[in-house]
Amino acid sequence: MNNIELIDTLEKTGHLDKEQWVQLFDTFTDDDRAYAAQKASAAAVAQFGKSIFIRGIVEFSNVCKNDCLYCGIRKSNANCERYRLTKEQILDCCDAGYEYGFRTFVLQSGEDKSYSTDTLCDIVASIKKAHPDCAVTLSVGELEYDDYKRLFDAGADRYLLRHETADEQHYGKLHPSEMSWAHRMKCLEQLKEIGYQTGCGMMVGSPFQTSEHLAQDMLFLERFKPQMIGMGPFLPHKDTPFKDEPAGSYELTLFLISLCRLMLPDCLIPATTALGTIRPDGREKGVLAGANVIMPNLSPIDVRKKYLLYDGKICTGDESAQCRACLERRMESIGYKVVITRGDHKSYDKDSSLR
Ligand code: 5AD
Ligand code: FES
Repeated sequence: MNNIELIDTLEKTGHLDKEQWVQLFDTFTDDDRAYAAQKASAAAVAQFGKSIFIRGIVEFSNVCKNDCLYCGIRKSNANCERYRLTKEQILDCCDAGYEYGFRTFVLQSGEDKSYSTDTLCDIVASIKKAHPDCAVTLSVGELEYDDYKRLFDAGADRYLLRHETADEQHYGKLHPSEMSWAHRMKCLEQLKEIGYQTGCGMMVGSPFQTSEHLAQDMLFLERFKPQMIGMGPFLPHKDTPFKDEPAGSYELTLFLISLCRLMLPDCLIPATTALGTIRPDGREKGVLAGANVIMPNLSPIDVRKKYLLYDGKICTGDESAQCRACLERRMESIGYKVVITRGDHKSYDKDSSLR
């Protein structure tokens, strides 16, 4: 089959074989990409209309016990100035965000053990109490089943934990030996089982990544059926072992967004900050390739420059209100509009009103 036929098959059946994925990744052209983007954006419009969901991210701590080789807030980066937000600061960010029309708050941090599960439960419950019409998403890394369960019972609705790569050997090249691919995968299974709307995803063009690895990622996503998929290009950070590695491909990231949309049409797929960093109009192009979510920053302005996973991150000097207005304009410029809603995955829409 040629690539156009493969894209048609994916759209019809939601499946390709491993060799077919590899063929696509090895041989795709700009025309193939445009074809996939046109089909994928039509699929997204069929699901969501020309509406874009927004999520406000509160980066509440950049302290991390992990040492992922790609990441700017890895523990051995002594140049990273560490900070932690208090519960009150986090709640203030959410209150401000609520005024700007955010109905999902994403609490994101490094793996910072100074926030106990009890503390996190208290923060989640307080946000839900102040804003019962909002969803809370957690993105605080690998925990144990009991922690995930307690956080869910405290009111957390969604959880983001990128799998980073579905290949165990590749995972081993991106992470120190203390980190386990099997544990990460187990976390994802548990999150889903507990009832979170669960997001996974990979970096595109991370060091040592091959087309085979990406094929494995697609097969994993097909099987796992996450409610959300976060993908952005790998971008080097100057204080990491990968500082001289080339950035991931912008075109391949867009192509992957389209392919994920065709494979899992109702999935929530953000046009990520990394995509907006590698190209000034990356997020708009992400939406036109099939993404339906944007996740701007709600963190206090004085900490934004300290939460740098990679160099060049956008929006680190902009107030939340500016980002909100900027996004509105950007989406309008391509014929979309930002909507004020929780933006749940459709399989959760009914239940969510009960939580
Ligand atoms: N480039 C791109 N994405 C990165 N992430 C971490 N470091 C980088 C980098 N250098 C992504 C990882 C992580 C998410 C929070 O950010 O996929 O899961
Ligand atoms: Fe932050 Fe444009 S989205 S300034």
